[in-house]
Amino acid sequence: MSEVMSPRRVCIVTGSSSGIGAATVRLYARNGWNVVVNCSRDTVPAEAIAAECRTLGVDALVVKGDVSSDADCRRLAAEVEARFGRADVLVNNAGTTKFVAAADLEGLSAEDFQRIYAVNVIGAYQMSRALTPLMQRHQGAGIVNVSSIASVMGMGSSIAYMASKGALNAMTIGLARALGPAIRVNAIAPGLVETPWLQQGLGAERYAQAVEGYKARSALAAVITPEDVADAAWWLGAGAAKTTGEVLLLDAGLRLTRG
Ligand SMILES: NC(=O)c1ccc[n+]([C@@H]2O[C@H](COP(=O)([O-])OP(=O)(O)OC[C@H]3O[C@@H](n4cnc5c(N)ncnc54)[C@H](OP(=O)(O)O)[C@@H]3O)[C@@H](O)[C@H]2O)c1
Repeated sequence: MSEVMSPRRVCIVTGSSSGIGAATVRLYARNGWNVVVNCSRDTVPAEAIAAECRTLGVDALVVKGDVSSDADCRRLAAEVEARFGRADVLVNNAGTTKFVAAADLEGLSAEDFQRIYAVNVIGAYQMSRALTPLMQRHQGAGIVNVSSIASVMGMGSSIAYMASKGALNAMTIGLARALGPAIRVNAIAPGLVETPWLQQGLGAERYAQAVEGYKARSALAAVITPEDVADAAWWLGAGAAKTTGEVLLLDAGLRLTRG
């Protein structure tokens, strides 16, 4: 057992220098949790988010690491143990894709699948494995995987991305069985979320069309915000004491229409 033991609960969010991950660490920090901010490339935005969290009176640790590297995942877990001595919630949010029209079968190579799976599926597995021993030390621990509605609707940035998120859903259920009763494992499958992800992937004009199209087709006539996903990650991580193995669709009712 580590000599360091934070009385505050600790939330680790992968890919939290931007978008959904950043909104999630902010929400946990606002609720008095210590947070771990992670990204694989530029740490400047991650440091800014950590500084913002510290103004709320909590501690925030920035760990640069690529979730597709098992060594990076284990190093992150070791840094969390050294700094806080505990890990209560892990949000596996880091993700990647390639934008390729689904009908363009030649547009995806085996290497594209492997790169996307390495982050979206294997990365979540490696992070969960690295942190499980620390998470098992305290009651009420939870893992939240950020999936996508692409996994159940057959739409999204590419077939490889849809398949990777389907695999993540299956892994969520498998880990929920394997890690209970100590750790609950759930997933959120959001629809179109307003983050740099789609803006950069589609370009300004196609992004604006996608937003308008989504609003026109969803029952609630809305797209999803990063804060909407953070709310769900808060409930599934910090609350939801009797919920495990759940994949929560967060799509403003897109699935209720004809798509
Ligand atoms: N936006 C949407 O419409 C939408 C919809 C459904 C699901 N999602 C899912 O939501 C998650 C977050 O997406 P977002 O929209 O918030 O994207 P975003 O704004 O582009 O943020 C992505 C974050 O992930 C980090 N990241 C990327 N690869 C990483 C890796 N290998 N290891 C560690 N960190 C990594 C990025 O930082 P670095 O670049 O520095 O690594 C960044 O912090 C993804 O899993 C995505 O599949 C998004």
